[in-house]
Amino acid sequence: MSNLLQTMNNYYSPGKNYRVDSWIEEWTQHTYPTNLKEKLIAYDNKNLLGHVVLDLGCGPKPLSFNLSEPKRAILVDVVPMIKSLKSEHFEVVSLWSDIDELLKSDEYKFLDDYGPIDTVIASSIFNYVDWKKLLSEQSKIQAFDGYLFIANMTNRGVPRLFSKKRPISTDEIIYELLSCGYELKEKTNMNVVDLIVAQKVY
Ligand SMILES: C[S@@+](CC[C@H](N)C(=O)[O-])C[C@H]1O[C@@H](n2cnc3c(N)ncnc32)[C@H](O)[C@@H]1O
Repeated sequence: MSNLLQTMNNYYSPGKNYRVDSWIEEWTQHTYPTNLKEKLIAYDNKNLLGHVVLDLGCGPKPLSFNLSEPKRAILVDVVPMIKSLKSEHFEVVSLWSDIDELLKSDEYKFLDDYGPIDTVIASSIFNYVDWKKLLSEQSKIQAFDGYLFIANMTNRGVPRLFSKKRPISTDEIIYELLSCGYELKEKTNMNVVDLIVAQKVY
């Protein structure tokens, strides 16, 4: 078990939800609202987001739950409570895992079973994982024309959990996106956070 998963297990104990709550407060204290929700809804209203959404590092309130009609939301997070997240509107697949561990194992291929992923959401997760590897792997299972939404702020978040492989800048993320077959559609800054919208083009 990875150190991060061990840390999360220590925070979590069944029947004592306050421990999970305190973890959520930790994220809240160190992070900022991104307005990514509004951006996602704007694309959704134009029917651009397809049917299968992968929500990486979704947290306890997945942004994908705001979308109107995905048939499947695939949630990935190390927080144990994602196992019990449900939506009335669509099928939820919860993958409770440390993303770095997932990338090392064959389990990532599990996502192939859900067909091409139409939309990927990576909100405030890149600082905590081997983001280049994550981007490279998810680009292989994302549908052509599918959209990728990234919210990130370099060196902001919960420093003690930062990955040594976190991005050094938003420009670095954009450079990597382009080399993984994406086209940059939008780059904006909202409340300190850089928002990137990209589309898979090859
Ligand atoms: C700042 S929160 C963002 C939550 C959500 N995406 C949002 O924007 O509201 C970061 C999330 O990444 C998750 N996370 C951090 N490191 C992770 C890892 N190595 N593997 C999987 N999830 C991780 C945390 O558990 C947390 O839910």
